[in-house]
Amino acid sequence: MSRILVTSALPYANGDIHIGHLVEYLMTDIYVRAMKLAGEDVVYMCASDSHGTPIEVNARKKGMTPEEMVAEYNRRHLEDFTGFGIEFDRFYTTHSDETRIHAERIFSRLTEGGLIYKKDVEQYYCEEDKRFLPDRFVKGTCPRCGAEEQYGDSCEKCGATYDPTDLKDSFCVLCQKHPTRRSSLHYFVDLEKARPEIAKWVADEKHLHPEMRNWLEANFLKNELRPWDISRDAPYFGFRIPGETDKFFYVWLDAPVGYIGTTQKYCDEKGLDFAGYWEKGADCRIVHVIGKDITYFHTLFWPAMLHTGGYNLPERVQIHGFLTVNGEKMSKSRGTSITARTYLKHLDPQFLRFYYASKLGPGPDDLDLNLEEFALRVNAELVNKIANLASRSVALLSKRLEGKTGEPDPAAAELAASALEKVPSILAHYRNFEFSRAMREICAIAEVANKYLQDAEPFKLVGAEPEKARAILSSALAFVKSLAILIGPVLPLLKERTEKMFQATAPWTFADADFALAPAQLTPFDRLVDRVDPAVVEAMIEDTRAQFAPPPGPGDRVTPFKEIIEIDDFGKLDLRVATVLTAIKVEGSDKLLQVTVDLGREKRNIFAGLAAHIDPATLVGRQVVVLANLKPRKMRFGVSEGMILAAEDIDGKLSVLGPVTELFPGATIS
Ligand code: 2FM
Ligand code: ZN
Repeated sequence: MSRILVTSALPYANGDIHIGHLVEYLMTDIYVRAMKLAGEDVVYMCASDSHGTPIEVNARKKGMTPEEMVAEYNRRHLEDFTGFGIEFDRFYTTHSDETRIHAERIFSRLTEGGLIYKKDVEQYYCEEDKRFLPDRFVKGTCPRCGAEEQYGDSCEKCGATYDPTDLKDSFCVLCQKHPTRRSSLHYFVDLEKARPEIAKWVADEKHLHPEMRNWLEANFLKNELRPWDISRDAPYFGFRIPGETDKFFYVWLDAPVGYIGTTQKYCDEKGLDFAGYWEKGADCRIVHVIGKDITYFHTLFWPAMLHTGGYNLPERVQIHGFLTVNGEKMSKSRGTSITARTYLKHLDPQFLRFYYASKLGPGPDDLDLNLEEFALRVNAELVNKIANLASRSVALLSKRLEGKTGEPDPAAAELAASALEKVPSILAHYRNFEFSRAMREICAIAEVANKYLQDAEPFKLVGAEPEKARAILSSALAFVKSLAILIGPVLPLLKERTEKMFQATAPWTFADADFALAPAQLTPFDRLVDRVDPAVVEAMIEDTRAQFAPPPGPGDRVTPFKEIIEIDDFGKLDLRVATVLTAIKVEGSDKLLQVTVDLGREKRNIFAGLAAHIDPATLVGRQVVVLANLKPRKMRFGVSEGMILAAEDIDGKLSVLGPVTELFPGATIS
């Protein structure tokens, strides 16, 4: 039996893990756990993808060194993964001596093999930032459709792909200035020279899903393989190219080498034989789980690098599709760009593990997380079928029969035997990444067991025929145990809780899924999993929306405009310029000033709520705007014969209005 080494794509140490990333890590974790339960010698390697321009630039923006930022995200990612029950044998970083040494080895073998050549490349260069600009650091107008602010590699509006130098009105995303062009010497891998190995690797049926193999053959292998640019100029966070001072390996050269470097670290720490995993000819099956967007790195460049470098080639590159939420791309404004941490704040990770498993197949199709269906499916299948079978049988056994199981019910023997027959195909589904089929078969067994328990009615028998009831419950519990094992790769927590309930002396493996149960003493029932509350799902969406909502600007505090009026409506207001003659605070009131104004034809007495906003002395002699035809109002302190107009600032402070140049008192306003 050969050993297995499994990897997930290495997450960039440049932002939080979200539910889109989790499709892959959960998928890999489920596979690894299934292989472990099947007794395989399997390890799961992962690391932070630590190099590249975005990491270097973002670290600087945060006032950190790239090393500090990488360490911070490495810690956060591991925390998130652990929260979801994702268990690596080692989670390391590509910014390590181990990865550097293997990357340099591969590079020198590529050089010795004549696959490396150097060529001048003209690229955008920002004179302000003193750096060459990668495609994502240049924006401009799409040369095809004219959409503005498009990235240097492709247009989000029309889907065109192009060279950054094709953009019109290009600018540097860091400083907004127009970049110049500059030439620099780059290192290339001549992939055509590795064509025979690449084509052979792609053609092997074990290695890829047929859809992906066809895609690679039609889009890449049919044409000339384009040389791969593997160098980048300083400033860059990465490994310096041996013999160079200002040139670095492009992040995608050393990223997959991180799989090897992490295994090296793991072996060194554990005193294991590294060669047994990665050396050419090692009896080890390497399985990479990746998203479809990074297929060509793993299926063209990577086999070429490994072959030339003298390493073991992957036996399988398992490719999944993208996540959509409610049928659409994840969106910050819709609140569906949910981070792992936000999810964990609101919901049980077992829900998402189960839901993803129930939708994952071996092909590269996209997976939709429909939030309504999520709650319905988890409640209907995980809670109602699997968890309730346990709660109903354990509760009755504990309450009425001292929690002791006994001999099984002979009437259930046939059901148990036919469930047992399904085990090999369930295990095969796990092995083939057909998790949705595994979940369907497991749920079908649970349904049979529930129906058996319902029809056998042990709660009716427990008084008069307790041993008969015990036998029925024992048979049901044999199902509970085996179902917990079979779904164990997906729901490790449920399996663990069930083991505790059965007082298992060692963790169960697939070999224990025998639909039989030796007489045992059960501990009182502990909840295996709660129901999904749709209101909590909604709260999680709201939380996400709030996290990404832009900070309020002054515009957000402006009260809404009133309904449209006719000019005649405005004409009813008799607005006049008035000169303030006297202004004093009204005794016995915090708010009011008593103001007398000259309106030309007459003088008026006005009570204005301005005391908290203006010193009355400064009002005297000033010109203000008065609503002159407002019906006089009798107040506690006298009659108010008009209104002085003021505007309210953002903090509630009032500012008295007046003409910019002095006018005669009584001048009309229109
Ligand atoms: O696409 C990504 O997110 C990369 N960080 C994946 C790297 S996978 C491997 F090659 F390291
Ligand atoms: Zn710039």
